[in-house]
Amino acid sequence: MILTASCIFGVEAVLSNEIKKLGYTVTKVDNGRVSFEGDLTAIARCNINLRTAGRVFISLKYFNASTFDQLFDNINTISWGDYIHYNNKINVKVSSLKSKLTSVPACQSIVKKSIVDKLLKKYASLPEDGDRVVVSVYILDDAVSVFIDTTGESLHKRGYRIKNYEAPLSETIAASLILLSYYNKGRILLDPFCGSGTIPIEAALIAKNIAPGGNRKFDSSLFSFMNKKIWDKAYEEAYDMENDYHEQLIFGSDISSEAVDMAKFHAKRANVESLIDFRTKAVKDLKKTDEYGIIICNPPYGERMLDQESAKELYLEIKNSFNQFDSWSKYIYTAYSDFEYVYGNKADKRRKIFNGKINCTYYQFFGPKPLTSHSV
Ligand SMILES: C[S@@+](CC[C@H](N)C(=O)[O-])C[C@H]1O[C@@H](n2cnc3c(N)ncnc32)[C@H](O)[C@@H]1O
Repeated sequence: MILTASCIFGVEAVLSNEIKKLGYTVTKVDNGRVSFEGDLTAIARCNINLRTAGRVFISLKYFNASTFDQLFDNINTISWGDYIHYNNKINVKVSSLKSKLTSVPACQSIVKKSIVDKLLKKYASLPEDGDRVVVSVYILDDAVSVFIDTTGESLHKRGYRIKNYEAPLSETIAASLILLSYYNKGRILLDPFCGSGTIPIEAALIAKNIAPGGNRKFDSSLFSFMNKKIWDKAYEEAYDMENDYHEQLIFGSDISSEAVDMAKFHAKRANVESLIDFRTKAVKDLKKTDEYGIIICNPPYGERMLDQESAKELYLEIKNSFNQFDSWSKYIYTAYSDFEYVYGNKADKRRKIFNGKINCTYYQFFGPKPLTSHSV
C-alpha cells in the first residue's frame, strides 16, 4: 500500500531521508508530503520513529472531481469495509483550495454519506460508538486525495513538553533544524535561546536514538486491521535501538530563569536530563569553552515577540557574541527580515521553513571541519 507522511513546508527532503533510513521506498515528494510504499508494520514503525513528520496517512485514492456526484461516486469505489469496523466513529476532515468544490461542510457531508452507503452494504448497522477513524480529504485544483489518518494527535506531541514558555518551537521543527545541521552526538551543541528546551531535548533524543513516539499511542493502535503484535514488535524494536550514551555535550541557556526551569523539567520528562546542561544566561554573556561546536537557535523576532528596534539591538548582541565562536557552525532560525544585514554576514545556505503561518528562514553558517575530537 502507499503511505503518505506530512511535514512542514521546507523539510520534505529531511523527512524523505528518515523514511528511507527506515527501509522504505519513497515514491513521490510534494509540498509538505512524502509518499512511500509500506505495509501495516510500516504504519507502526513510521508513527513511532519519524522525527519530522506531522502525521502518517494511508493513501486510498486520487481522482478528479468538480461536482458532488463525482465526489460521491469516486469515494464509493473505495473498499471502506477493509479499513472501518462496523462500530468505528467516522470523522471526515476536508480541505479545499483552488477548486470548484468550495464548500467544506458540503463536501464533508457528501464524503460521509458515500462512506456510510458503502459500509451499509457490508454491515447491517453503523452505531458509531467505538474508536474513531479519521478520513482526510484534500482537494487542490479539483484533484482529490483521500487518506486515512493513522496518527491522530499530531506527531509533534511527543509527550514530554507539557508547559509552554514564550513562542515555543514545535518538536518536529526543532528536530528538522537539527537534522539539517551537521550535528552528531560527538559534537557540542548549544542553544542560547532555549526557552522551554525543545532544541536541546530533541538533540538529546537523537543522541540517545530514543524514538520520538516511543511513549505514546496513535489512532491506528486501535484500528481493527492492525494487530497488537505489530505494535508490540515496533515498540520493542525502537527500545532496542536506544543507546546508553551519557556524555553531557548539549548546552541550553536563556535569559529567563523561568524558561530554564521549564526546560529542565521537560528534559527530565523526556529522560535525557543527564545529557543537557541548562543555565540562565543572556546571549551577551556567552563564553566559548571549546572548538568546533554547533549553535542552533531560534531567537525572538520582531513579528512575534519584539518591536523592530529591540530586535535590532538583540541581533547586534547575537552578532557580537557569536563572533567568538569562530570555529563553530551556526544555525539561526528566524523571521527577522534584516537578519543578515544586522548580523553582518551572508549565510552559506538559507532555507525557507514555515513556523505555522510565519515565513521563517533557517540561516546556515558552516564552520570548518573539526580537526580533533572535542574535550570539555
Ligand atoms: C522564540 S523563543 C525560543 C523558544 C524555544 N526554542 C522553545 O522551543 O521553547 C526565544 C527565547 O529567547 C529568550 N531570550 C530573549 N532575549 C534573550 C537574550 N538576550 N539572551 C538569551 N535569551 C533571550 C526568551 O526568554 C525566549 O525563551
